[in-house]
Amino acid sequence: MAHPTPHGLRSELWLNNPDNPGMTALYVERLVNYGITRKELQSGRPVIGISQTGGDIAPCNRIHLETVERAKAGVRDAGGIPFVFPVHPIQETVRRPTAALDRNLSYLGMVEVIHGNPFDGVIFTTGCDKTTPAALMTAATVNLPSIILSGGPMLDGWHKGNLAGSGTIVWESRKLYAAGKIDYEEFMDRSCASVPSAGHCNTMGTALSMNSLAEALGMSLPGCASIPAPYRERGQIAYETGLRIVQMVREDLTPQKVLTREAFENAIVVNSAIGGSTNCPPHLVAIARHMGVELDTTDWQKVGYDVPLLVNCMPAGKWLGEAFHRAGGVPAVLGELIRAGRIHEGAITVNGKSIGENCSKVEVVNTDVIRPYATPLREKAGFLVLSGNLFDCALIKTSVIGEDFRRRYLSKPGSENRFEGRAIVFEGTEDYHERINDPALDIDENCFLVVRGSGSIGYPGAPEVVNMTPPDYLVKRGITELPCVGDGRQSGTSASPSVLNASPESAIGGGLALLQTGDRMVIDLNTCRCDALVPEEEWNARRAAWKPPVLENQTPWQEIHRKCSGQLSTGMCLDFATCYRNVGAAVPRDNH
Ligand code: FES
Ligand code: MG
Repeated sequence: MAHPTPHGLRSELWLNNPDNPGMTALYVERLVNYGITRKELQSGRPVIGISQTGGDIAPCNRIHLETVERAKAGVRDAGGIPFVFPVHPIQETVRRPTAALDRNLSYLGMVEVIHGNPFDGVIFTTGCDKTTPAALMTAATVNLPSIILSGGPMLDGWHKGNLAGSGTIVWESRKLYAAGKIDYEEFMDRSCASVPSAGHCNTMGTALSMNSLAEALGMSLPGCASIPAPYRERGQIAYETGLRIVQMVREDLTPQKVLTREAFENAIVVNSAIGGSTNCPPHLVAIARHMGVELDTTDWQKVGYDVPLLVNCMPAGKWLGEAFHRAGGVPAVLGELIRAGRIHEGAITVNGKSIGENCSKVEVVNTDVIRPYATPLREKAGFLVLSGNLFDCALIKTSVIGEDFRRRYLSKPGSENRFEGRAIVFEGTEDYHERINDPALDIDENCFLVVRGSGSIGYPGAPEVVNMTPPDYLVKRGITELPCVGDGRQSGTSASPSVLNASPESAIGGGLALLQTGDRMVIDLNTCRCDALVPEEEWNARRAAWKPPVLENQTPWQEIHRKCSGQLSTGMCLDFATCYRNVGAAVPRDNH
């Protein structure tokens, strides 16, 4: 590193700077007040920040109350000094109106903490959905040596002898409840059965997807993503992560060297192979923008659509996190993909080796859980990126288009992969819950369910509301899915093949704003179009008459988010923040 300090460490600008004794005294004195010695702080030991993302209101990451102790031991044993710092909590299932608001807030907080404190490298603890992109966005902006420490999935859930996957069982139970097959008590029992231990979602939801992508990006140690939170290996990899980050500081192995365009393409390919979440595209685009790497949502189709589905985990398949881990986890998936020529093997990872060196020889242990590339669960299992007069950009996850849905909506002779129907439009999720069973809507199997006002600005924060259950009377007849479209997101644990993340959203005048209940609309997966079939003259008249909604902010942050954040298609970033680079190298001014 190019800092003019005794040992060339950034931390010494605070802790061991003979050029500035007046300030060094102030920076050192308070840090020794709980027993650290001056010698430790002033003998050239790298100082490692460790983000603590777990806690009582962040239960998916609460395992990190334990893992950071092992990480600290690793940092110490490698000759570094660990400092744990708190992070604005992100909890997907409890936080209202949506945890998506917290990703950028947590990012801002972490950037500020790392910039302003004597850190030479950072261990980022991750787990629940947005904790991982917040960490990677921060690592990209700060560009100090950085490593991801996942918390790992919960143990597999079981209910009455069947696997119960977190999130997925809630969406399934909603349908059983709508059909009158379970009562309130059973609904609660089924849901709680899916969460048997500490850890994040055990399904291939956004959490396991994003932690797998962190590994595919090269930002965590090989095998880190899938280790279930309670397994002893979780503590062991935490220790090894602590050892490794100190070496990374000595090697000056920064995110800029790891998070290359090749690394992002690798992550996209892996996401298709694991049947990963529809939330990954906005998150990866956000990380790339903060890193200054060209990547947009259409790259997901170009790079990832024709990749087969290898991992047989819910919601696209049947197994859960423990099975995925025992089958070999991300290294085994990468091994299959590398041997099939789908991965940029030279991409460097945080252990200092290329992804090819790490994974090319790793074999799958259980080929029912991770299928061979030659005999996948499904060919062409990535995302399609749609456009049309309703939006410029939206996604559909093809790996969750089930047989029933395909037969009902996408197999009509002469118009395969195309469905035309009548739009039923809801103004947000509350309107949907209120009116879905209203007989006046006359919803049948030839309808689209559309939800708007659910985007980054409109809601705010783009909640996971697009996977909408059909009316009870249809569910009772066995129609458990209708085509859904919306400008919000949906849970990565949902198996609904919705058209989602529509951008621009209705609140800022995207085409969805002009749609009316009763309009004909069409989705065509051959041409990747989704359009309202409304005559142009009428459409233009509606646009001329459209007035933007009056949006009420309930908190100051909501106002900042609305003013500064972009659309899902461009990562829902704080747009102004994406031009900040190397914030860790920028030396903050003295404070006294
Ligand atoms: Fe936190 Fe799924 S809700 S990981
Ligand atoms: Mg979610």
